[in-house]
Amino acid sequence: MPVVDLSEHAEEFNADPHPTYAALRAAGPAHLVRTPAGGDVWLIVGHEEARAALADPRLVKDWRPLAEEGYVELPVSSNMLETDPPQHTRLRGLVAREFTPRRVEALRPRVQEVTDALLDTMLAAPDRTADLVDSLAFPLPMTVISELVGVPDLDREAFRVLSNQAVAPLTDDGGEAVREIGAYLARLIEAKRAASPADDLLSALIRARDEDGDRLSHDELIGMAFLLLVAGHETTVNLISNGVRALLDHPEQLAALRANFDGLIDGAVEEMLRYEGPVETATYRFTREAVRIGDVLVPAGAPVLIALASAGRDPRRHSDPDRFDIRRTPQSHLAFGHGIHFCLGAPLARMEGRIAIRTLLERAPDLQLADEKAELDWLPGMLIRGVRHLPVRW
Ligand code: HEM
Repeated sequence: MPVVDLSEHAEEFNADPHPTYAALRAAGPAHLVRTPAGGDVWLIVGHEEARAALADPRLVKDWRPLAEEGYVELPVSSNMLETDPPQHTRLRGLVAREFTPRRVEALRPRVQEVTDALLDTMLAAPDRTADLVDSLAFPLPMTVISELVGVPDLDREAFRVLSNQAVAPLTDDGGEAVREIGAYLARLIEAKRAASPADDLLSALIRARDEDGDRLSHDELIGMAFLLLVAGHETTVNLISNGVRALLDHPEQLAALRANFDGLIDGAVEEMLRYEGPVETATYRFTREAVRIGDVLVPAGAPVLIALASAGRDPRRHSDPDRFDIRRTPQSHLAFGHGIHFCLGAPLARMEGRIAIRTLLERAPDLQLADEKAELDWLPGMLIRGVRHLPVRW
């Protein structure tokens, strides 16, 4: 099978992967590709095949059996997104009830309050310009998830640098960043254990462990905190910034939304997820046995990436897929994944996205990009789709 080399035009691919995905889809639903970072993986680009692969038990998350001899496992890896049943079922079961739509609904007043406070500060800027990422898109989900997990004093700027580095490494330091976050969380958990019991998720998980020792190991506690904190903010930040950018690029859609927030905001956020969702490819999976995808036979023990961004633009699923249309008849997308690893935080992310975007547009009626021609600084790597900064004016 010839390798499609995505590293040849890495910069263009990173700035706009959609033409490449379209060409790949036209040639077939799955391909062996060389990623911009240099590794060879099987990439699934068709919607139907992506959906099937996400729910296929032959594609597993546990990479440990394939690891090179002598590998050292990091505590942060003991998390539900890097495990299969039955470990996955147990880890997810411990926190699932905290993230149901009903539980998340109770956070609504706080999400609104944080949004309002951030916008008070942002909109007070005397020159009427700001970086939307720094002012709203990053601090909102970071504040909400830190409070929920129970680390309100988290050094957010330090954590942000490390976490960015962990999901979209600029250099080879991704592994080092993950190690540092793990050490940082271990200290945090010790401090929490020493303090008087608090009413938050991490405290509840620590108690569950201390009272019934074999329920959550020390590493699993670190893995859970790591996954929730990283997944809780590396993604929603880009829902808000990619979403606002799509609206500002499509003034007629923006005007329609402004005229009918109540009727259109939910659909608008779904369209943002389909059109330019925060997660470009799902996390790595590995074939437990040979798996046929379309006309391609992926051998056993091979790494597989599922391109959610490509599935969202598959014309066999979405008509005129490159058109951003907030009134599209709802067609389920794969931006939150599918199957047993379907995003645990989807209800929270949707609520944050709806509140942030609506409140921003209501309070800044003439919001615009600060400079329409400015080049965007895209995050590197194939995991996260988003920009580092989004300068706006009003
Ligand atoms: C718009 C924002 C978000 C998007 C687009 C998103 C997307 C995703 C996707 C695609 C997956 C599946 C990955 C895979 O199968 O490889 C996932 C899993 C997950 N997400 Fe999200 N996510 C978002 C926000 C959040 C938030 C706010 C949380 C906070 C709790 C969260 C927590 C998780 C967790 C814990 C998993 C792993 C679930 C499992 O393995 O069973 N996500 N997310």
